[in-house]
Amino acid sequence: MDIVLSGIRSTGKLHIGNYFGALKNFVKMQHENQCYFFIADYHSLTTHPTPADLHGSVKQVFAEYLACGIDPEIATVFLQSDLPEVSELYLLLNMNAYIGELERTTSFKDKVRLQPENVNAGLLTYPVLMAADIIIHRATKVPVGKDQEQNLEMTRKFARRFNHMYKVDYFPEPTAYNFGKTLVKIPGLDGSGKMGKSEGNAIYLTDDAKTITKKVMKAVTDSGPTMQDQEPSEPIQNLFTIMQAVSESETLDYFKDQYKNCTIRYGDLKKQLAEDIVRFTDPFREKFEDIYSNNTYLRKLVNEGAEKARVSASQTLKDVREIMGFKAF
Ligand code: TRP
Repeated sequence: MDIVLSGIRSTGKLHIGNYFGALKNFVKMQHENQCYFFIADYHSLTTHPTPADLHGSVKQVFAEYLACGIDPEIATVFLQSDLPEVSELYLLLNMNAYIGELERTTSFKDKVRLQPENVNAGLLTYPVLMAADIIIHRATKVPVGKDQEQNLEMTRKFARRFNHMYKVDYFPEPTAYNFGKTLVKIPGLDGSGKMGKSEGNAIYLTDDAKTITKKVMKAVTDSGPTMQDQEPSEPIQNLFTIMQAVSESETLDYFKDQYKNCTIRYGDLKKQLAEDIVRFTDPFREKFEDIYSNNTYLRKLVNEGAEKARVSASQTLKDVREIMGFKAF
């Protein structure tokens, strides 16, 4: 069994692309591995959120993950900032991380370009904090998207360096958790590309029925098929892809047939798609609202999660301090 650790960015709400892209797999994965899920709230400080925004988005994301089916009875779910051990390991790892290698990471160079007015030291050492998050639980697998592969590579480097430097075989080198073919890419509603928050084409899991319907009815289409058995254009294929994720297979077949014989009415397709998205997301919204409005429950879960996570974190830190020479007289 692997120890799997997933770090969650505490920015913004989840959309259906996030659900089918990763969350659905996370829910499954928690039954097959020892899983840690945590919200990377320290990392989000690199962009200077207001205290209210920071607190609000952590609560939002925490409640959303639980509403999606992450089960705190099975997995360990916690906030990064509740583990003082992580900050300490970060400090220790920083001594063996070099400015040159940190400056060369793509994500750092991107940030320098995107926020030249705020190139803080936290941005530079972002991969070190991420490595601390991972190796403090001696995780072996980490589900990461393409944009995080380099950070994971840095984690391996720091783990290897530690082992080498202190002549131990202490930290495992974590690799990417691969979901293989089950990874579904949900496209946006604007005709091309994937669904994303920054693309402004997303349907959020917390969107109400009216909002969902409005967004779907506005989705980009084309002028309609003109020949029998024509391949759908990209915007139409995108609607079919979303439909495949949320609708019954008969519904998808019905509209695909209508497309093939040129009788399709996009208004009907969208109406059905909107209805099916609403039906699909309804239980999520209900569960989310229950959890989100119950601060006592949330507090209890956060505390229990921290307590569970600190078992492995404090053990690692104790070992690391000892290995490095911080010993009692
Ligand atoms: N950097 C990750 C992201 O932007 C979030 C993250 C922080 C993370 N620490 C992590 C992911 C540890 C995996 C493991 O998505």
